[in-house]
Amino acid sequence: MRTLGVKEKTMKIGIIGAGNIGSALAGHFQRVGHTTCVANSRGPDTLQEVGRKTGARPVAISEVARGVDLLVLTIPVKSVPSLPSDLLVDLPATSPIVDTGNYYAFRDGTIPELQKGMVESEWTSSALGRPVIKAFNNIAAVSLLNKGLPKGSANRIALPVAGDDNTKKQRVMALIDQIGFDALDAGPLSESWRYQPGTPAYCLDLTILQLPTSLEKADREKAPLNRDKAEKIITRLPADFPMEELVRVGRLSAGMDTLNPRSWLAALRLGVAILLR
Ligand SMILES: NC(=O)c1ccc[n+]([C@@H]2O[C@H](COP(=O)([O-])OP(=O)(O)OC[C@H]3O[C@@H](n4cnc5c(N)ncnc54)[C@H](OP(=O)(O)O)[C@@H]3O)[C@@H](O)[C@H]2O)c1
Repeated sequence: MRTLGVKEKTMKIGIIGAGNIGSALAGHFQRVGHTTCVANSRGPDTLQEVGRKTGARPVAISEVARGVDLLVLTIPVKSVPSLPSDLLVDLPATSPIVDTGNYYAFRDGTIPELQKGMVESEWTSSALGRPVIKAFNNIAAVSLLNKGLPKGSANRIALPVAGDDNTKKQRVMALIDQIGFDALDAGPLSESWRYQPGTPAYCLDLTILQLPTSLEKADREKAPLNRDKAEKIITRLPADFPMEELVRVGRLSAGMDTLNPRSWLAALRLGVAILLR
């Protein structure tokens, strides 16, 4: 994969959350040439392994947003309201805050506004008291980690980006391209429900040719019902059931890869895993 071109600015990037998504992003950002720091709730001592693997610098949460050009928030949605109240005081107003969050009641508990259908990133934005850009929420961590491709590749995965500030959105879209994915402007933040859990654009590794139709097909009433159905399946699976198999089954259910035996094998594996629980 490429590194930054001479005209591309190196950014200082802060990442809050260093789990599946946070560590995958940290590795990508470092690899292309950005300077990245990561924080969690337990302190930098607990992030030495992530630092060693990704090259990102573990820092205290009080430091992670200080003066950075871009901040990624990638923690469970339920944890957003408990972030320190002074977290963003030294974050420049021009720096995008990227929200990767997805609401799942089995993990996040009941959040009444989200149960009633409030757009998830609008809820997060209001909890933070700052605008956010929604990105990276509709790609499985395993795809984010392993499936980046050079620009122009036939199967390059495309990621939607929604937000109300076009300059910030463009900056996030450029970053997505740098790390190996196409980016699609998905409109204002209010439209980001179109790629929340339960929608046709969620975690199916779609290309730039497929993504616009999937966003268009999203049904706001059906999405939470689909999400709850998926949640029932996920909670019956062993914790180590591979996410890439779920992506394969999701694509198969959406009528994709029907001639690929690997997809049917994944469906069989899922069925067996559920039966054996
Ligand atoms: N996994 C996926 O495939 C995937 C895909 C797309 C989007 N997402 C979404 O992206 C977000 C992160 O997912 P993930 O799978 O990366 O989660 P994860 O593996 O559970 O990691 C969560 C990270 O957040 C940190 N954290 C939790 N509470 C915190 C707090 N109050 N302050 C600072 N750090 C905190 C955790 O560290 P400590 O607990 O040590 O603080 C951990 O490093 C979630 O909203 C998820 O729905 C996940």
